[in-house]
Amino acid sequence: MVAAVGEQVQKGTAFTVGTEAEIEYAEHICGRNPAFDRIRFVNSGTEAVMASLKAARAFTRRPKIAKVEGAYHGLYDYAETSQTAKPENWGQAERPSSVPVSRGTPLHALDDVVVIPFNDVQRALSILDAHRDQLACVLIDLLAHRIGLIPAAEDFVRALRRWTEQNGALLIFDEVITFRSTFGGAQQWYEVQPDITALGKMIGGGFPVGGIAGRADVMEVMNPLNGPAPFPLCGTFSANPVTMIAGHTAMKLYNQEAVDRLNALGTRARNEIGEAIRIADVSACVTGRGSMFRIHLSMDAPQNYRQAYLSLEKAAVFSAFVGHLFDGGLLMVETGTGFLSTAMSEQDIDDMATVVLVALRKIKPYV
Ligand SMILES: Cc1ncc(COP(=O)(O)O)c(C=O)c1O
Repeated sequence: MVAAVGEQVQKGTAFTVGTEAEIEYAEHICGRNPAFDRIRFVNSGTEAVMASLKAARAFTRRPKIAKVEGAYHGLYDYAETSQTAKPENWGQAERPSSVPVSRGTPLHALDDVVVIPFNDVQRALSILDAHRDQLACVLIDLLAHRIGLIPAAEDFVRALRRWTEQNGALLIFDEVITFRSTFGGAQQWYEVQPDITALGKMIGGGFPVGGIAGRADVMEVMNPLNGPAPFPLCGTFSANPVTMIAGHTAMKLYNQEAVDRLNALGTRARNEIGEAIRIADVSACVTGRGSMFRIHLSMDAPQNYRQAYLSLEKAAVFSAFVGHLFDGGLLMVETGTGFLSTAMSEQDIDDMATVVLVALRKIKPYV
């Protein structure tokens, strides 16, 4: 990897035109999943989700997007809506409010975001029906860590696929994190293909990246070769050859064998953390799938954002727990979620479970 990147740096880091490195990498990623007819690269997951939403609007000529309450999709005004909704502003479960994250977000942006609850087919479809003629797309993350790291239910995903097909909207999967889950992304756990997939993180091999992959006719809205594109997509460093070489090198290494090994480490991590919870006899549980896990300080796993939402007191206990993990040498995000890396070994997982056990014992009196 270091040698491949070093060699590319010698040749050049940014050009105004496409490069062979870009084409070869595009072919590799498209070869991993039959839903990827074409791909365009950008520089971050935020940009990939933004471009996916704009492509859906351009394709359908409609303004609104639908997203799941509490799910994180980067910083674009529309995509971030209701990511941090609170009990005092999230509204009725039957009609969740569109809540801004950033101060000063234009109200008209919120008006164009339709918020649906996770894994609740009936409520979600009823909300979507109310906006059926204006919705460009439904955006979901199949294993969203901020809403509990519960896999999207098969019937929920199928219902959204059917609804979007019947109503002329597109289905977008945000696989910025979850692409790691199988050789072609978490979507290969399901019998459903999206129209567009947003990619990021791992496909850059450690360099800034995003990707928009999808159906050829949808991707055509970004094609500048037949007159002005309905959605012109460009960017100074998009598809720069350093990222392309780094990403391609990393993803060639992330072959089926590597995916299987990482997912087996994930199973080991969830089992061992589950065992630590039993030994500590604390009211806690662990969720996740593939190479991802999340620890909850509650007996039952939350089923959606509202259930995963922590009161101030519970958040303080959780924060102390994450602090104890840190003291034990484990740096974990504030939601208690872990994403394993191919550099890790079984020993690392065992060591991690030992640290979790110590931390659980420390917070036991407060749970
Ligand atoms: C699911 C998801 N979508 C989008 C993003 C945004 O990606 P980036 O940080 O590269 O802008 C993230 C980042 O954590 C993410 O987890």
